Amino acid sequence: MTEMVQLTIDGQTVEVPAGTTVLEAARQLGIKIPTLCYMKELNEIGACRVCLVEVQGARTLQAACVLPVSPGMVVNTKSPAVREARRTAVELIISDHPQECLTCARNRTCELRVLAEEVGVRQIPYTGATTQLPVDASSPSIVRDPRKCVLCRRCVAVCQQVQQVGCLQAAERGFDTNITPAFGDNLNEAVCTFCGQCVLVCPTGALTEKNETARVWSVLANPEKHVVVQVAPAVRVS
Ligand code: FES
Repeated sequence: MTEMVQLTIDGQTVEVPAGTTVLEAARQLGIKIPTLCYMKELNEIGACRVCLVEVQGARTLQAACVLPVSPGMVVNTKSPAVREARRTAVELIISDHPQECLTCARNRTCELRVLAEEVGVRQIPYTGATTQLPVDASSPSIVRDPRKCVLCRRCVAVCQQVQQVGCLQAAERGFDTNITPAFGDNLNEAVCTFCGQCVLVCPTGALTEKNETARVWSVLANPEKHVVVQVAPAVRVS
Protein backbone atom coordinates (compact mmCIF):
# COMPACT_ATOMS: atom_id res chain seq x y z
CA MET A 1 0.00 0.00 0.00
CA THR A 2 1.27 3.48 -0.84
CA GLU A 3 2.51 5.34 2.20
CA MET A 4 0.73 8.69 2.54
CA VAL A 5 2.27 11.84 4.01
CA GLN A 6 0.33 14.72 5.53
CA LEU A 7 1.70 18.24 5.47
CA THR A 8 0.51 21.83 5.61
CA ILE A 9 1.05 24.35 2.84
CA ASP A 10 -0.03 27.94 3.34
CA GLY A 11 -2.30 26.83 6.19
CA GLN A 12 -4.02 24.10 4.17
CA THR A 13 -3.56 20.43 4.94
CA VAL A 14 -2.90 17.96 2.16
CA GLU A 15 -2.15 14.24 2.04
CA VAL A 16 0.02 12.95 -0.79
CA PRO A 17 1.99 9.77 -1.53
CA ALA A 18 5.48 9.64 0.02
CA GLY A 19 8.07 10.86 -2.46
CA THR A 20 5.84 13.59 -3.88
CA THR A 21 7.58 16.93 -4.12
CA VAL A 22 6.33 20.00 -2.27
CA LEU A 23 5.70 21.60 -5.68
CA GLU A 24 3.33 18.84 -6.76
CA ALA A 25 1.65 18.76 -3.33
CA ALA A 26 1.05 22.49 -3.59
CA ARG A 27 -0.42 22.05 -7.05
CA GLN A 28 -2.92 19.56 -5.61
CA LEU A 29 -4.13 22.36 -3.37
CA GLY A 30 -4.30 24.77 -6.28
CA ILE A 31 -1.36 26.76 -4.92
CA LYS A 32 0.84 28.08 -7.69
CA ILE A 33 4.58 28.10 -7.13
CA PRO A 34 6.48 29.65 -10.06
CA THR A 35 8.97 27.44 -11.91
CA LEU A 36 11.42 27.83 -14.75
CA CYS A 37 13.74 24.82 -15.07
CA TYR A 38 11.17 22.26 -13.93
CA MET A 39 9.61 19.68 -16.26
CA LYS A 40 7.72 16.99 -14.41
CA GLU A 41 9.59 13.68 -14.35
CA LEU A 42 11.98 14.91 -17.03
CA ASN A 43 13.93 17.77 -15.57
CA GLU A 44 13.81 17.96 -11.80
CA ILE A 45 17.22 19.43 -11.08
CA GLY A 46 16.60 22.45 -8.86
CA ALA A 47 18.70 24.70 -11.08
CA CYS A 48 16.88 28.02 -11.31
CA ARG A 49 15.78 28.51 -7.66
CA VAL A 50 12.62 30.27 -8.78
CA CYS A 51 10.41 27.83 -6.85
CA LEU A 52 11.87 28.59 -3.41
CA VAL A 53 9.62 28.07 -0.40
CA GLU A 54 10.00 28.44 3.34
CA VAL A 55 9.87 25.28 5.44
CA GLN A 56 9.32 25.64 9.17
CA GLY A 57 12.49 24.60 11.00
CA ALA A 58 14.77 24.72 7.94
CA ARG A 59 17.65 27.17 8.02
CA THR A 60 17.46 28.10 4.35
CA LEU A 61 14.78 28.42 1.71
CA GLN A 62 14.21 25.23 -0.25
CA ALA A 63 13.53 24.53 -3.92
CA ALA A 64 10.01 23.07 -3.96
CA CYS A 65 10.51 21.16 -7.21
CA VAL A 66 13.13 18.85 -5.70
CA LEU A 67 11.98 18.82 -2.08
CA PRO A 68 10.17 15.63 -1.07
CA VAL A 69 7.33 16.01 1.39
CA SER A 70 7.81 14.76 4.94
CA PRO A 71 5.24 14.08 7.68
CA GLY A 72 4.10 17.19 9.53
CA MET A 73 6.00 19.55 7.26
CA VAL A 74 4.78 23.15 7.39
CA VAL A 75 5.45 25.10 4.20
CA ASN A 76 4.95 28.78 3.41
CA THR A 77 5.00 29.64 -0.29
CA LYS A 78 4.27 33.35 -0.02
CA SER A 79 6.30 34.79 2.86
CA PRO A 80 8.20 38.07 2.31
CA ALA A 81 11.52 36.16 2.35
CA VAL A 82 10.25 33.77 -0.33
CA ARG A 83 8.98 36.59 -2.54
CA GLU A 84 12.24 38.48 -2.26
CA ALA A 85 14.39 35.42 -2.95
CA ARG A 86 12.37 34.50 -6.04
CA ARG A 87 12.57 38.03 -7.37
CA THR A 88 16.32 38.10 -6.77
CA ALA A 89 16.74 34.76 -8.57
CA VAL A 90 14.92 36.11 -11.63
CA GLU A 91 16.78 39.43 -11.51
CA LEU A 92 20.08 37.56 -11.51
CA ILE A 93 19.02 35.44 -14.49
CA ILE A 94 17.91 38.54 -16.41
CA SER A 95 21.13 40.38 -15.53
CA ASP A 96 22.82 38.05 -18.04
CA HIS A 97 20.08 38.13 -20.65
CA PRO A 98 20.06 40.37 -23.74
CA GLN A 99 17.57 43.20 -23.46
CA GLU A 100 16.17 42.46 -26.91
CA CYS A 101 12.62 41.57 -25.99
CA LEU A 102 11.03 43.81 -28.63
CA THR A 103 12.83 42.05 -31.46
CA CYS A 104 13.03 38.55 -29.99
CA ALA A 105 11.12 35.77 -31.79
CA ARG A 106 9.68 34.72 -28.43
CA ASN A 107 8.55 38.15 -27.31
CA ARG A 108 4.93 37.05 -26.95
CA THR A 109 5.63 33.63 -25.51
CA CYS A 110 8.74 34.10 -23.37
CA GLU A 111 8.36 32.34 -20.03
CA LEU A 112 11.13 34.44 -18.51
CA ARG A 113 9.29 37.65 -19.32
CA VAL A 114 6.06 36.33 -17.83
CA LEU A 115 7.93 35.08 -14.79
CA ALA A 116 9.61 38.45 -14.27
CA GLU A 117 6.20 40.07 -14.21
CA GLU A 118 4.82 37.44 -11.83
CA VAL A 119 7.57 37.81 -9.26
CA GLY A 120 7.59 41.60 -9.45
CA VAL A 121 10.84 42.43 -11.26
CA ARG A 122 10.83 46.17 -11.98
CA GLN A 123 14.51 46.82 -12.55
CA ILE A 124 17.76 44.88 -12.82
CA PRO A 125 20.02 46.05 -10.02
CA TYR A 126 22.93 43.86 -11.10
CA THR A 127 25.52 44.72 -13.71
CA GLY A 128 28.65 42.88 -14.74
CA ALA A 129 29.90 40.40 -17.29
CA THR A 130 27.41 39.06 -19.79
CA THR A 131 27.56 35.95 -21.93
CA GLN A 132 29.00 36.69 -25.36
CA LEU A 133 28.64 33.58 -27.48
CA PRO A 134 27.82 33.52 -31.20
CA VAL A 135 24.38 32.73 -32.58
CA ASP A 136 24.31 29.33 -34.31
CA ALA A 137 22.08 29.57 -37.39
CA SER A 138 23.75 26.66 -39.21
CA SER A 139 20.85 24.22 -39.04
CA PRO A 140 18.01 24.10 -41.59
CA SER A 141 15.35 24.73 -38.97
CA ILE A 142 16.68 25.78 -35.57
CA VAL A 143 18.45 28.92 -34.42
CA ARG A 144 20.43 28.65 -31.20
CA ASP A 145 21.28 31.86 -29.36
CA PRO A 146 23.35 30.98 -26.28
CA ARG A 147 23.11 34.56 -24.97
CA LYS A 148 19.42 34.02 -24.30
CA CYS A 149 19.92 30.65 -22.60
CA VAL A 150 18.96 30.51 -18.91
CA LEU A 151 20.70 27.15 -18.37
CA CYS A 152 17.49 25.43 -17.32
CA ARG A 153 18.59 22.32 -19.24
CA ARG A 154 15.06 21.53 -20.37
CA CYS A 155 16.40 21.13 -23.93
CA VAL A 156 19.12 18.76 -22.70
CA ALA A 157 16.54 16.62 -20.90
CA VAL A 158 14.19 16.35 -23.87
CA CYS A 159 17.01 15.74 -26.36
CA GLN A 160 18.50 12.96 -24.24
CA GLN A 161 15.57 11.35 -22.47
CA VAL A 162 12.68 11.76 -24.92
CA GLN A 163 14.35 11.86 -28.33
CA GLN A 164 17.37 9.84 -27.17
CA VAL A 165 19.59 11.87 -29.48
CA GLY A 166 21.83 13.46 -26.86
CA CYS A 167 22.95 16.33 -29.06
CA LEU A 168 22.78 19.05 -26.44
CA GLN A 169 24.73 19.09 -23.21
CA ALA A 170 26.23 21.47 -20.68
CA ALA A 171 29.85 22.48 -21.26
CA GLU A 172 32.32 24.44 -19.13
CA ARG A 173 31.73 25.46 -15.52
CA GLY A 174 30.55 28.44 -13.45
CA PHE A 175 29.82 31.62 -15.42
CA ASP A 176 31.17 29.98 -18.59
CA THR A 177 28.60 27.17 -18.47
CA ASN A 178 26.74 26.91 -21.75
CA ILE A 179 24.47 24.46 -23.50
CA THR A 180 25.96 23.24 -26.75
CA PRO A 181 26.48 20.25 -29.02
CA ALA A 182 29.59 18.25 -28.11
CA PHE A 183 33.02 19.66 -28.97
CA GLY A 184 31.52 23.08 -29.65
CA ASP A 185 30.14 21.86 -33.00
CA ASN A 186 27.35 23.86 -34.52
CA LEU A 187 23.94 22.19 -34.87
CA ASN A 188 24.51 21.33 -38.52
CA GLU A 189 27.74 19.49 -37.75
CA ALA A 190 26.35 17.72 -34.70
CA VAL A 191 24.05 14.70 -34.37
CA CYS A 192 20.98 16.98 -34.20
CA THR A 193 18.03 15.51 -36.11
CA PHE A 194 16.19 18.86 -36.20
CA CYS A 195 13.17 17.33 -34.50
CA GLY A 196 12.42 20.65 -32.81
CA GLN A 197 11.55 19.26 -29.38
CA CYS A 198 14.21 21.47 -27.81
CA VAL A 199 12.55 24.51 -29.35
CA LEU A 200 9.22 23.47 -27.88
CA VAL A 201 10.55 23.26 -24.33
CA CYS A 202 12.91 26.25 -24.38
CA PRO A 203 11.43 28.93 -22.11
CA THR A 204 13.14 31.82 -23.91
CA GLY A 205 14.43 32.73 -27.35
CA ALA A 206 17.58 30.64 -26.94
CA LEU A 207 16.21 27.98 -29.28
CA THR A 208 13.78 29.12 -31.95
CA GLU A 209 12.48 27.96 -35.31
CA LYS A 210 14.27 29.38 -38.28
CA ASN A 211 11.97 31.46 -40.42
CA GLU A 212 10.57 29.59 -43.38
CA THR A 213 12.47 31.32 -46.19
CA ALA A 214 15.82 30.86 -44.49
CA ARG A 215 14.87 27.26 -43.69
CA VAL A 216 14.08 26.31 -47.31
CA TRP A 217 17.36 27.76 -48.58
CA SER A 218 19.25 25.99 -45.85
CA VAL A 219 17.62 22.62 -46.67
CA LEU A 220 18.47 23.08 -50.35
CA ALA A 221 22.05 23.85 -49.43
CA ASN A 222 22.33 20.89 -47.02
CA PRO A 223 20.01 18.14 -48.34
CA GLU A 224 22.00 15.40 -46.63
CA LYS A 225 21.19 16.93 -43.24
CA HIS A 226 17.46 16.96 -43.86
CA VAL A 227 16.66 13.48 -42.57
CA VAL A 228 13.24 12.17 -41.64
CA VAL A 229 13.13 11.26 -37.99
CA GLN A 230 10.64 9.64 -35.68
CA VAL A 231 9.40 12.46 -33.53
CA ALA A 232 7.95 11.74 -30.11
CA PRO A 233 4.75 13.56 -29.15
CA ALA A 234 5.40 17.11 -28.04
CA VAL A 235 6.49 17.29 -24.43
CA ARG A 236 4.14 19.07 -22.10
CA VAL A 237 5.96 21.54 -19.90
CA SER A 238 4.39 21.71 -16.48
FE1 FES B 1 12.59 24.57 -9.00
FE2 FES B 1 13.91 25.61 -11.10
S1 FES B 1 11.81 25.21 -10.89
S2 FES B 1 14.66 25.12 -9.12
